[in-house]
Amino acid sequence: MTTPSPATLATSLRTHLAGTLRAEQTGTAVVLGGWVHRSRDLGGQVFLDLRDRGGVVQCSFNPQWTPSEVIAAAAAVGIESVVMIEGTVAPRPAEMRNPEMVTGAIEVRATAIRVVGPAVTPALPVAPIKDGKLPAEELRLRHRILDLRREELQHALVLRHRLMQTTRQYLSAQGYLELETPILTKPTPEGARDFLVPSRMHAGEFYALPQSPQIYKQLFMCAGFDRYFQIARCFRDEDLRADRQLEFTQIDIEASFIGREDIIAMAEGLIQALWAEAGIAVATPFPRMSYADAMERYGCDRPDLRYGLEIEDLTARFAPSESGIIQSALQAGGRVRGIRVPGGAAWSRKQVDELETIAKGAGVGGLIRLKGTGSALEGPLAKFLSPESQAALQLREGELLLAVAAHDRVASPALDRVRQECAARLGLADPTVRRFLWVLDFPMFDQDPETGALAAVHHPFTAPNAEDMQARPDAPASWRALAYDCVLNGTELGGGSIRTSDPAVQARMFALLGIGDTAEQERRFGFLLEGLRAGAPPHGGIAFGFDRIAMLLAGASSLRDVIAFPKTTAARALFEGAPSAVPAADLTELHIRTVDA
Ligand code: AMO
Repeated sequence: MTTPSPATLATSLRTHLAGTLRAEQTGTAVVLGGWVHRSRDLGGQVFLDLRDRGGVVQCSFNPQWTPSEVIAAAAAVGIESVVMIEGTVAPRPAEMRNPEMVTGAIEVRATAIRVVGPAVTPALPVAPIKDGKLPAEELRLRHRILDLRREELQHALVLRHRLMQTTRQYLSAQGYLELETPILTKPTPEGARDFLVPSRMHAGEFYALPQSPQIYKQLFMCAGFDRYFQIARCFRDEDLRADRQLEFTQIDIEASFIGREDIIAMAEGLIQALWAEAGIAVATPFPRMSYADAMERYGCDRPDLRYGLEIEDLTARFAPSESGIIQSALQAGGRVRGIRVPGGAAWSRKQVDELETIAKGAGVGGLIRLKGTGSALEGPLAKFLSPESQAALQLREGELLLAVAAHDRVASPALDRVRQECAARLGLADPTVRRFLWVLDFPMFDQDPETGALAAVHHPFTAPNAEDMQARPDAPASWRALAYDCVLNGTELGGGSIRTSDPAVQARMFALLGIGDTAEQERRFGFLLEGLRAGAPPHGGIAFGFDRIAMLLAGASSLRDVIAFPKTTAARALFEGAPSAVPAADLTELHIRTVDA
């Protein structure tokens, strides 16, 4: 992306950006506008560091060139106030040069100052403080304007802008049209709760905010637009985490007359372009792994491949054990699976107990632990394993074996979390390494073990694998989907699928998902079915989490650091004060009555 030259940012009120001034401009008369970043009053001589979007420059108020009333005004101005300063660029005296500042060789010898936006005493420091520690995040979110002035957040939001422009350029160049879809809409299921908006004109009726533009982008394909993209705001009422927000932005893409490989090639090119914008070269094609393989080896569908600690099936080794725990797990259809952690044998009992707590949090009864100490194995279960079984485990000295005897449904997530925690403890997740991955062949449905009910793993509009459908027409729980996810270092960057373009197959999918009643199908998804019946091309697409990409490229660890006005994990906007109560009269107009919780 091309950035504007500093001269482009000159206006009728200012001549230059503070941070762009250099020694070559010595002798130039300038008018600057910005915020007072730091202020030093040496008694008769005042230094103000002036900050604008270009950076910071030192402005020097000195009796040699500054009228005394101007020095007095500079001494009185409050930090973070907005001022206009007139002066001349001059080299700093040699002993005052600051090699750590890009403008550190010069200063502006100020001749006039005007306070145009006085600031109340700031509740937070904007300039970096000595120990580098930031105030608590809650305080920063409460005073978000000051926080947004910080260099890191300024850079993050500028990066966001650049990534958006790169996206637009890359996709436009390939014939993708940037088209908008409604915000007040009908529910589009993506697995979360909807945010509902009451209709004033139609009592008792509600719009839903889109969880994604999924159905609309498919309708664009039915309408013949062929290639669509949108930098789309999505809304999902779900529990928040560092990488989840209630409202977030997707790079949403759909195309017609394409197959999976077309989407993957286009998506890899987009990732390459975005990472290049942040100065990082990415090699393509990305490796691929089936969902089944990912679950077997890593216990999750978005494995972090920066480290091994792969899960092994140890059932055969443990099957002869007399342990009741193991035998009952095996009888219930479970397996014994575990990971070997090099060096883990040195962890204290407490440290291993902490891992067990993590595993239990994911639903398993406990963690089998065995230490490889020389030839003998140690651990509570060692006595239940015959010497042959112990030997067959081939545990090396210093290794810790952590295993789970349970059904895969609970064992996989438990081992995933334990694996991640072990890697974190051992410092295995090298932040400078990037392991992109496509996870393919997701199952079409997730089946509730108790009720047998099916739920869509991706969403109901994903096409099932035709061969699976033909081979096992009565076993939909075994069908794979034409879905794919793009993963980087354990984070799901994006996901998509080839869609069902046959309205009869789509109706069947709804029926399998428990919406068998045709009237109900029409009521909820009639607009999609109508689009498909009007003549639908084969189509598919993908959506990337734009905030997640910006977070990773900004080197941030929370989406809140790349979103200007984010929500807290308690789902509150602290700066604006949302959500908030509304006057009873407004509710009445919306035909709403609230009940006490
Ligand atoms: P999916 O639900 O997988 O697919 O979402 C796509 C990507 O959006 C990001 N994402 C989020 N980012 C921040 N906060 C959230 N709460 C959040 N939820 C999801 C993730 C995810 O990979 N319509 C389909 C796409 C398609 O089939 O084309 C969809 O929305 O990075």
